[in-house]
Amino acid sequence: MPIIAPSLLSANFLHLQDECTMLNESEADWFHLDVMDGRFVPNISFGMPIIQQIRKATTKICDVHLMIVEPEKYAEAFKATGADILTVHLEACTHLHRNIQQIKSLGMQAGVAINPHTRVELLQDVLQNIDLVCMMSVNPGFGGQQFIPQTIQKIIALRKMIAEKNLHVKIEIDGGVTLENAREIIEAGADVLVAGNTIFGSSNPKETIAKLKSL
Ligand code: DX5
Ligand code: ZN
Repeated sequence: MPIIAPSLLSANFLHLQDECTMLNESEADWFHLDVMDGRFVPNISFGMPIIQQIRKATTKICDVHLMIVEPEKYAEAFKATGADILTVHLEACTHLHRNIQQIKSLGMQAGVAINPHTRVELLQDVLQNIDLVCMMSVNPGFGGQQFIPQTIQKIIALRKMIAEKNLHVKIEIDGGVTLENAREIIEAGADVLVAGNTIFGSSNPKETIAKLKSL
């Protein structure tokens, strides 16, 4: 069964407590928290204060996706918010291996995110050091975009790389996941489905989460 990670980017920020309660009662596994800096991506979302509050509102895993430049400056601060998984973008890290070491030494699980144009082969030399690959299936920055179809081939290729190395790295798919395409994504080899618009834009988010989970 896939791990379901609702993206709170699409939640109602005026009613975050209610949104957290709904997710707590649902079959969602992780809370996916998208941090944007207006530099790495053309949008600004939220940062530490919000994550700190969300952390108090759930015992589920907080999966923090940093879409920011110079993530090494903030890794400790995100650890302090209670993040369980900290994901940095390959494209934003000149010293990716060092960034991963820093996250692990702080006691968090380390994720590496790759943009749609980034080849999975570039992960070869860090795959053994990380817990998660966040494969972007849209260009990062906004919720509610269309799934980029080439992602399916990338998932298959990455799954093969992970199997060949005998690793247990999770593949997370982020962007444009819907009830219609989720099965194909899982069959290609994904472990974690991030979904924002599909969940929070539906009339019954809990039921939508249950449907994604049962695929
Ligand atoms: C996009 C974010 C995603 C986004 C997904 O930059 O990383 O997590 O919230 O939203 P949907 O599921 O609506 O495409
Ligand atoms: Zn994300």
